Amino acid sequence: MTPYDPDRIRESEINTAVRLDVISVPGLVSAGKIQPVIPKRRRLAPPRVVTGKEHRWLNPNKGLVKVIERNLDILISRFLYPHLSKLWNPYSWLLERRFGLAESTLSPVGWPKGVAPLRVLYISDIHAGIFLRPELLSAIVDSLMNLRPDLVAVGGDLVSGHVREAKQVLSTLAPLSAAPLGAWFCFGNHDYFGGDPEEIRQGLLSVNIKTLKNESVKIAHGGASFVLGGIDDLIMGKPDWSGLTSNHGAPHLLLAHNPDHFYEAEACGVPLTLSGHTHGGQIRFANGGPLIRQSRFCLDEGVYAFRSSQLVVSRGLGSIMIPWRWGAEPEAVLIEILSAD
Ligand SMILES: [Fe+2]
Repeated sequence: MTPYDPDRIRESEINTAVRLDVISVPGLVSAGKIQPVIPKRRRLAPPRVVTGKEHRWLNPNKGLVKVIERNLDILISRFLYPHLSKLWNPYSWLLERRFGLAESTLSPVGWPKGVAPLRVLYISDIHAGIFLRPELLSAIVDSLMNLRPDLVAVGGDLVSGHVREAKQVLSTLAPLSAAPLGAWFCFGNHDYFGGDPEEIRQGLLSVNIKTLKNESVKIAHGGASFVLGGIDDLIMGKPDWSGLTSNHGAPHLLLAHNPDHFYEAEACGVPLTLSGHTHGGQIRFANGGPLIRQSRFCLDEGVYAFRSSQLVVSRGLGSIMIPWRWGAEPEAVLIEILSAD
């Protein structure tokens, strides 16, 4: 595998990303005006077939390692970076230059016949708060909405350390609800880190982004309909599969922050699941191995297939712990879902 070289990627893949007016020192906080961001684009590889037997020795979803990581994460997010980020915020600097759009076209088995082609814009792991300038997020949201998606899904971890961080970006996210089939959210583990996550639900609702927590909705699109569902976070929430399926049966499209929900989703009969959480490893070594291994089943990023079920794992937009990424560039995903008929 070719070693990761961010400079090579910057030169070859970034089309016309516009820079801050003033910044010359990486990450130095500036009042410079942010221009529209035009992300670099790439196509995701076809689904990788998995067997369900791939797994890591340590289960990242529970146990002592998780407790230590969670508390360290909260400590840094709440008490260190709020001070540091007033002067130096390298992540927004990086995000503006390396944000990209990943694209995929999928025809999941079991997708309802007669549904018109559906363009889903999927944004996960925004991690509002210390690392992310709302003005930059606003520029990214505007550029993504120019893609005219039919539906927008926000896949959890809206915040980093506290639910109040959501308030900083609510107006920024409001344009997402202009999608004809609406904008939808599911909870991630960080949304439970501080305060009451219901505040996030209410805040998002105030800008017309609706939360699905162990529930589903039926959505008409092009003469037929499909079911969209959201399952609660695997680590910090209380996933309830029977609640999820009680009204409309198994969702055709499921928002599940943690990709380790995938095998339960398949057992439940879900054709397509959208996840994040892993940040694609966030920092990847030269041999491609991730520093942060958040999926017990090695579902790190990209598209996967197990039996007749498919999964998209996004690297996400934001950052945690370390205000940097290497080898796992920040992204949103545009998925075109086509009926198999
Ligand atoms: Fe995250």
